[in-house]
Amino acid sequence: MSEDWSARQYLKFEDERTRPPRDLLAQVPLKSARRVFDLGCGPGNSTELLVERYPQAQVIGLDSSPDMLGQARQRLPNCEFIQADLADWRPPEHTELLFGNAVFQWVPDHPAVLRRLLAALSAGGVLAVQMPDNTQEPALAIMREVAASGAWAARLARAAAARDDLPTPAAYYDSLGALCARLDIWHTSTSPCVAVSSPSTPRESRALIRHNTTVASCCDFRACSS
Ligand SMILES: C[S@@+](CC[C@H](N)C(=O)[O-])C[C@H]1O[C@@H](n2cnc3c(N)ncnc32)[C@H](O)[C@@H]1O
Repeated sequence: MSEDWSARQYLKFEDERTRPPRDLLAQVPLKSARRVFDLGCGPGNSTELLVERYPQAQVIGLDSSPDMLGQARQRLPNCEFIQADLADWRPPEHTELLFGNAVFQWVPDHPAVLRRLLAALSAGGVLAVQMPDNTQEPALAIMREVAASGAWAARLARAAAARDDLPTPAAYYDSLGALCARLDIWHTSTSPCVAVSSPSTPRESRALIRHNTTVASCCDFRACSS
């Protein structure tokens, strides 16, 4: 069984998935930047936001997944994409923005990795990170239960163990506060809506229907180096 991500599957909910990086980017205070990294760029949806925001910058997408990188390169042929593992990657000098949406929850001991990345930023640089804080949500609990209860359980065991609960916002503050000039941490709850069109309505007119009330919590933070 392949352990790679599926860009095609990921993009089925592209609008919903791209909302957190859009919200996170809105909080990044840099007016301009020369070099920007999209860490865990996936299929390039978050990279595209960075290219739009910083058209003069060298925007580089980084990911460990060949399938995601293949899709990102097709989507943004003028951008550079590199395959690397954040567990041991170091940013080059003169990097002004490290942007990581929905990736660090997958990186073992990510608070230590974040400390290392923050310490490597240029003066005035920004580390902006969003992680879904949803491991205790009912949908994920049911997913874990189903994964562990069938003939497939042994095959899915590694995937089930891949994510831990996030540390608390206070723990991030204690871990990173002394390394930066300013640290913002915030927690967001969203109730996702799903757009559907009924067969009788023209394709252009889409009705926004509140699809479910599952709350997806995200833990975001932005750290500016001194
Ligand atoms: C949920 S997707 C996020 C995609 C995109 N940034 C977005 O905002 O929608 C997470 C991505 O992180 C990548 N990833 C997971 N662990 C990684 C690691 N250790 N190093 C680099 N990339 C990693 C995965 O391959 C995947 O493409």
